[in-house]
Amino acid sequence: MRYLIGLDIGTSGVKGLLVDEEGNLIYSSFKGYPLYTPYPLWSEQDPRDWWDATIYVLSDIVRNSFINARDIKGIGLSGQMHSLVSLDKDYNIIRPAMLWCDQRTKKECDYVMDKIGFEKVIDIISNPVLPGFTLGKILWIRENEPKNYERIYKILLPKDYIRFKMTESLNMEITDAAGTAFFSVKEHKWAKEFLKTLDIPIDFLPPVCKSYEICGKTVSSLEELTGIKQGTPVVGGGADNACGAIGGGIIKEGRVLSSIGSSGVMLAPITAHKVDPRGRLHTFNHSMDDIWYLMGVELSAGMSLSWFRKENAPIETALSGFLKRNPYDILSDEASISSPGSNGVVFLPYLSGERTPHKDPYAKGLFFGISLLTKRGDLIRSIMEGVVFGLRDSLEIMKNLDVPINEIRAIGGGAKSKVWKQIQADIFQKEIKTMEKDEGPAYGAVILAGVGAGIFASIEEGVEKFVKIKEVIEPQDKYMALYNDYYEIYKKLYDNLKGLFKDIGKLNEKYQ
Ligand code: XUL
Repeated sequence: MRYLIGLDIGTSGVKGLLVDEEGNLIYSSFKGYPLYTPYPLWSEQDPRDWWDATIYVLSDIVRNSFINARDIKGIGLSGQMHSLVSLDKDYNIIRPAMLWCDQRTKKECDYVMDKIGFEKVIDIISNPVLPGFTLGKILWIRENEPKNYERIYKILLPKDYIRFKMTESLNMEITDAAGTAFFSVKEHKWAKEFLKTLDIPIDFLPPVCKSYEICGKTVSSLEELTGIKQGTPVVGGGADNACGAIGGGIIKEGRVLSSIGSSGVMLAPITAHKVDPRGRLHTFNHSMDDIWYLMGVELSAGMSLSWFRKENAPIETALSGFLKRNPYDILSDEASISSPGSNGVVFLPYLSGERTPHKDPYAKGLFFGISLLTKRGDLIRSIMEGVVFGLRDSLEIMKNLDVPINEIRAIGGGAKSKVWKQIQADIFQKEIKTMEKDEGPAYGAVILAGVGAGIFASIEEGVEKFVKIKEVIEPQDKYMALYNDYYEIYKKLYDNLKGLFKDIGKLNEKYQ
């Protein structure tokens, strides 16, 4: 039997899957790490934590799966998008990685948009420059940490950095290059002139590789550290959203992904390059040649619920081991006692600002409508509903841009909780499908590794063999009007409060 490994370098930790060539999950491992938010708007991680977690996960797989490591024929990587890893000429990490949910770079993004012009920027990179994307982070370092900037020799994204550590080959894979904001998504190459205008050296960038091509082979030091045999092929892999899409079979126009991980994502593949002229949805390259996707991103989706768990459910968290229950299952049960509309509570999930549709780093979270009757279950349910209203914002933009939406497939936390799945079907007013293997982006990375290893002739063949629908959740007509009405309130809340969000942010800074 031949085996494949998929690794996802996520925001909460590294997840590793060992899968056999028939698609059976043989072993799964996870190692978490912290997210640092030292100042308002900042979100950072230490890439050395990603590497330590990768070593842990790979060693765990090799040691405890009881297979012969020689039978591992390929490794695929997926990872959080946009987060900037800066390396000096000896390939040392210069500073902590600035993450996709870091919001400090509005000034730098506005500078680029003003200098080059909104329409021209969209024409060159298919997107506006937004604070989550990599470009603003480079400019921020240049402006605020000139000594660090002078030391930059190469820049990478998280999974490309981990691939470099595993193979010593330096590449940036295309679906992640797309999210840097200095890649011509239309023409599949670095936007060199654009970078020149901004006076950023093109030498910072490694060559671009494809998702399914072998970009390097593992080195002997990795074998010493983990038991992975030297020379195991490692493919380019993909951005977590591209890989999540592949793992859910979202490789054709008409199929739409609804993913609730740390972030929330609505993603629709397109066969002809297309942009949202207002820049609310992103246009990025998918892993298949000449397929793109349109994507809306909510910055705190699962992260809203994990914030609630951390701050408001310490007892459930502490007891979860003893009860042998995931704390999120306990919260989800509590949410199911509340009712559609959360007994009048509406939650805005803008805990780290928001990208789609508002492009507003200063937006804030909110529970609206609480009263003495409000129970904790209502708050939990309102978080779930608020996250799905946020995804509906993206879906509505897709509909307006005439993107075909034949079916929606859910992955991540929103596909695990019974109540959250039903909320999605009811708020989207569409059937929701879930997959038999709901292992997130790491499973898509396995499929890409299978193509590189020659187990599949194409990504399409891998998806055909590995991805099966598990269940279909029907929307309940009786809640259609209720959710339409609550969605109107949800939208009005932001429109009415956007000025105040800025004010409260300023007050917070003033009195800190
Ligand atoms: C996508 C984005 C997030 C991260 C999460 O643009 O910023 O979905 O990829 O890891």
